[in-house]
Amino acid sequence: MSAGSATAPRSLFFLLSLAAATGVLRVRGQSTGFVSIDCGLSEQSGYVDDVTKLPYSSDAAFTDAGSSHNVSAEHVKPSSTKRYLSVRSFPDNSMASRSCYTFPSIVPGSKCLLRATFMYGNYDGLNKLPVFDLYLDVNFWKTVNISKADSVHTAEVIAVIPSDTVQVCLVNIGLGTPFISGLDLRPLKNTLYPQVNSSQGLVLLDRRNFGASDIIVRHPDDPYDREWFPWSNLSKWRGISTKEKVRLRPEDEADVHFDAPSVVMQTAITPLNASEKIHFSWDAEPNNVYPTPRYTSVLYFSELERNVVRLFSVTINGMLLMSRYTPRYLFSYAFYGIEHSYSSRYDFTIQATATSSTLPPIINAAEFFSVISTAKFGTDPQDVIAINAIKTKYQVKKNWVSDPCAPKTFAWDGLNCSYPTSSSPRITSINMSFGGLSGDISSYFANFKAIQHLDLSYNKLTGSIPYALTQLPSLVELDLTGNQLSGSIPPELLKRKADGSLNLRYGNNPKLCDQDSSCQPTEKKNSTITIYIAALVVAAVVIGLLLLLLLLGVRKKKGLVKGRVKPEHVASDVQSHSKNSNRYGLLQLDNRWFTYLELEVITNNFQRVIGRGGFGIVYDGFLEDGTRVAVKLRSQSSGQGVEEFLTEARNLTKIHHKNLVSLIGYCKDGEYLALVYEHMSEGNLQDKLRGGNSNIGCLTWKQRLRITLESAQGLEYLHKACSPPFLHRDVKTSNILLDENLKAKVADFGLLKAFNNDDDTHVSTARVVGTYGYLAPEYASAMQLTKKSDVYSFGVVLLEVITGKPPILQSPEPTNIIEWAGQRLGQGNIEDVVDMFMHGDYDVNSVWKAADVALRCTAQVPTQRPTMTAVVAHLEECLDLEESRTTGDINSNLNSCSGGEFNPNYNNYGVDHPTDTSQSSRTVDMGHSFGGGVATGPATL
Ligand SMILES: *[C@@H]1O[C@H](CO)[C@@H](O)[C@H](O)[C@H]1NC(C)=O
Ligand SMILES: *[C@@H]1O[C@H](CO)[C@@H](O)[C@H](O)[C@H]1NC(C)=O
Ligand SMILES: *[C@@H]1O[C@H](CO)[C@@H](O)[C@H](O)[C@H]1NC(C)=O
Ligand SMILES: *[C@@H]1O[C@H](CO)[C@@H](O)[C@H](O)[C@H]1NC(C)=O
Ligand SMILES: *[C@@H]1O[C@H](CO)[C@@H](O)[C@H](O)[C@H]1NC(C)=O
Repeated sequence: MSAGSATAPRSLFFLLSLAAATGVLRVRGQSTGFVSIDCGLSEQSGYVDDVTKLPYSSDAAFTDAGSSHNVSAEHVKPSSTKRYLSVRSFPDNSMASRSCYTFPSIVPGSKCLLRATFMYGNYDGLNKLPVFDLYLDVNFWKTVNISKADSVHTAEVIAVIPSDTVQVCLVNIGLGTPFISGLDLRPLKNTLYPQVNSSQGLVLLDRRNFGASDIIVRHPDDPYDREWFPWSNLSKWRGISTKEKVRLRPEDEADVHFDAPSVVMQTAITPLNASEKIHFSWDAEPNNVYPTPRYTSVLYFSELERNVVRLFSVTINGMLLMSRYTPRYLFSYAFYGIEHSYSSRYDFTIQATATSSTLPPIINAAEFFSVISTAKFGTDPQDVIAINAIKTKYQVKKNWVSDPCAPKTFAWDGLNCSYPTSSSPRITSINMSFGGLSGDISSYFANFKAIQHLDLSYNKLTGSIPYALTQLPSLVELDLTGNQLSGSIPPELLKRKADGSLNLRYGNNPKLCDQDSSCQPTEKKNSTITIYIAALVVAAVVIGLLLLLLLLGVRKKKGLVKGRVKPEHVASDVQSHSKNSNRYGLLQLDNRWFTYLELEVITNNFQRVIGRGGFGIVYDGFLEDGTRVAVKLRSQSSGQGVEEFLTEARNLTKIHHKNLVSLIGYCKDGEYLALVYEHMSEGNLQDKLRGGNSNIGCLTWKQRLRITLESAQGLEYLHKACSPPFLHRDVKTSNILLDENLKAKVADFGLLKAFNNDDDTHVSTARVVGTYGYLAPEYASAMQLTKKSDVYSFGVVLLEVITGKPPILQSPEPTNIIEWAGQRLGQGNIEDVVDMFMHGDYDVNSVWKAADVALRCTAQVPTQRPTMTAVVAHLEECLDLEESRTTGDINSNLNSCSGGEFNPNYNNYGVDHPTDTSQSSRTVDMGHSFGGGVATGPATL
């Protein structure tokens, strides 16, 4: 920007001292949904920023790439803002390498402001200023051109986030190593900045507070934490200010498009010489992607002097934008809307309308943006989930980062994609030949519904060809040559080969039989079961993985002590192992101890997956006495979750309650960590309510009440009976498991937290864990955790049980269930709220009472929520009401949900992933390939 004839620096940088001077701002409340990260800060650390009073945390949870550095000492001044003293850099010499941060838990379709900051500070000692590109998901955002070692460069974009996560990616363009100092995400009200829609975003050029002193206005004065930079020029302009609050015009309040903070609006400028104009300008900043960038601006006006009338017009490059306008006293008005026609320079003039106005013009604030397209689609989500699972399973290195297909220039090696104009790219071919892949063929290959060519030749793949591969509608070429595959080839594939619709190659697989003759007859039977299992596993996994996308980063646990305990085969040999386990605090575990080899036997070589989570995979198994168990094995490839494992193992030994899933044993064998639980044959409550199988909606109101009552009792026990009390922190319907009698037990204690304080104080946690949609507002925003946070999540569960709806409803607009149900209930409308699968078969008073309890549990203010004890009492009353209605047919509906012998409704211990900022890698598929096992195991203790 330049004032008058002067040319101010073109790019947006402001010296540290200026940023530090903003410390004068006052403090107000916290803001919800803000993510504030200080890149390069050591793991798990955080602090509250002096200026904005916002909590900043390390970036380690949001990315697994790059390395942390401190800026060099010569750039550290006493006044330096802490955020700029460390950076994360992404050294990778290859051109066009991408490194990304992932923000989870976005409400899809919501408007957000994202701000990245950069202060080079010679962190690498090379004194070389880099230039690199910044992308928002797959769309180009800005070229960052670091022009000064000790200046803070800022990139800010306002955009609609299409999905529930958003990535910020730094791209090496061959002009130095990308680095970053800070990242802020600020949700905006959806009516703000109407220029921003799903296909275009605004990149900030400048945001000015005219007539202000040298203070940058930010949070808490600006509830959205925008940065308003002061601009006054005493040689040209006179400042005008008021102490009175400036407000929105009443007609704008309902549907506010622009909302500058009052503090910003309370100052303005006017020309020194009353017959002069206000004049300012900027030069276009073309880049490779936008050689003729499009610009738009927002001008804010409010009269600050009493009893005066101004009348003025605004022109840009001589063209009239706004004519004969009179600002209103202490009401703000924003002028916007035009995209300026392209020019290399933009000159603004604000000029009094000479004939009728004697007072000179004023302006209070302005924002200038370039317009970027955000219309590029990311790859189809199902393809993304599958390819990431495959990447993890086979530990593919290459350039497989961020989106697989988009932008086209960054498509992953070995993939070809189709790029339809109005929908997401799809993966059409995968070439992983000579890739050193081992283990079995991932069932995720069956998820690429648009794939035509799949080449897995010349690897070390074992196991049989998944039946699911026959279900790919577009597949025309499948090359499995040169592996160690065994078993028979699915006849459907052979049939397609025979009729010429599939080019199938499988030579050089000595153990593979292409005729049924050489294979066991049992294989046939197995394969039909496999179909069933595969289809279900795929379905379960897809659901699980969609939730996984909510995830944050993995932190590599440094300093992890590598246990080198040799696997032993004797279960009774606990003592000798306890020594080795001692440092983990496992000595006190009085449950059974399993070796890894035993687990192999119990799970029949980890054959049947019944759940997946951030911790790892849950397998079905049988103890030697026939007791069915669920084995949760830590994913070894990720190096994550040791702490969570130990937390859960330790806590589980302390808590025993009929409504909490109990631990049968554990395994800590070398690097293998596993927990063995009782098996809950009827799966989880979420699937019962809205899982994609025939069970959906089969629960009666009475059963629903029993289940919630029992879960509430489990939680009450955690909150009250234990010393110190525990907080579950991840209460949700998928963590409520059901046994064959539909008795409910709360599961997944990986996030359990001991809580030493009284009810009305709170624990401040370093990071928010839990699941999107269930997080109490004070916890999500201020990381303040109390028992009432669990109560809130339980309220959401109760609403799900009543309505059959998910915590976040997607259509017509993303809405949370509390708001949705609250509104309808507020109008006395219960029929619209109650799950239609209950077919009106319930006591209305009982449902009303339960709904009332749910709304009280989800009160915004924690102190207004009941305790779990009160919730239990209320639910007992609800159940009484319902039971008095149904006396006489007490057992008529019991077990209407139970499946038969083979229950497809999988148990899932932590199936979907909590929003845990400590984990980001989509570790979903482990690729074990073990030798044969038998279906017997050691004796139970
Ligand atoms: C203020 O205006 C004067 C006169 O146009 C100009 O010379 C000077 O550079 C301006 N200062 C700033 C900081 O823009
Ligand atoms: C940066 O400095 C802090 C202390 O000022 C230190 O704890 C941290 O380890 C340093 N980080 C790096 C990457 O050197
Ligand atoms: C970066 O900015 C400098 C001037 O500040 C300019 O000379 C250089 O061409 C820019 N580089 C790129 C790649 O835009
Ligand atoms: C977004 O706004 C631009 C400019 O007004 C318009 O051309 C475009 O069609 C809009 N896109 C959507 C998806 O509404
Ligand atoms: C104000 O500007 C007008 C026109 O540019 C000029 O004639 C007049 O002398 C100026 N007055 C002062 C006080 O500078």
